[in-house]
Amino acid sequence: MSLKYSVATRLLHWISALLVITLFVSGWYMVQLDYYSTWYQKLPELHIVGGVVLMIFWFFILIRLLKSKRNHFTQLHKPIERFASLWVKRLFYLLVVIMVTTGYLIATGQGETLTLFETLKLPAISHFSAAQIDTMGLIHEFTSYLLMILVTLHILGALKHHFIDKDDTLKRMI
Ligand code: HEM
Repeated sequence: MSLKYSVATRLLHWISALLVITLFVSGWYMVQLDYYSTWYQKLPELHIVGGVVLMIFWFFILIRLLKSKRNHFTQLHKPIERFASLWVKRLFYLLVVIMVTTGYLIATGQGETLTLFETLKLPAISHFSAAQIDTMGLIHEFTSYLLMILVTLHILGALKHHFIDKDDTLKRMI
């Protein structure tokens, strides 16, 4: 049996990795823009569209995760590596769920349907006070930093396998 991940898993992995990193950079940059910048209106809209695409991807990733019984560890992986990999992954799933949920609730927190680029409509789930939206903004911000720390650990782990242990952990995802 090939230990390579399926094409669907590899595609979901790389597209969502790209989305998470792009969302972090765009989110960090957009809140620093001043009103007269041409990106002041467009970038938050792009951030939200990207976030909704990630929400859809994440839904499929979680479904696949719940259905999959396959274990991708090999004899070469030490117990400490299995433990770290499993918990970084679990925390990662949780943090992305927090990011997309708070992001959606902030974006639609005024209680009205949000229209993006004059076409895409995002229905509001509830109406929140300004203080509640601020709190969710803080959660969104700090969770994004935590997420980037985990992304860094995840990348360092993959590079260690590839360059130091010289095993095929990274190659299986490419
Ligand atoms: C993993 C996914 C995401 C990442 C990494 C991310 C990252 C960020 C970052 C770094 C900021 C700037 C925070 C600050 O400094 O105040 C931000 C702001 C924002 N994000 Fe996201 N985001 C994600 C998903 C989403 C989603 C799914 C939505 C909406 C559907 C969204 C909507 C927003 C909005 C409306 C703001 C502005 C908040 C404010 O001004 O306080 N984000 N995001």
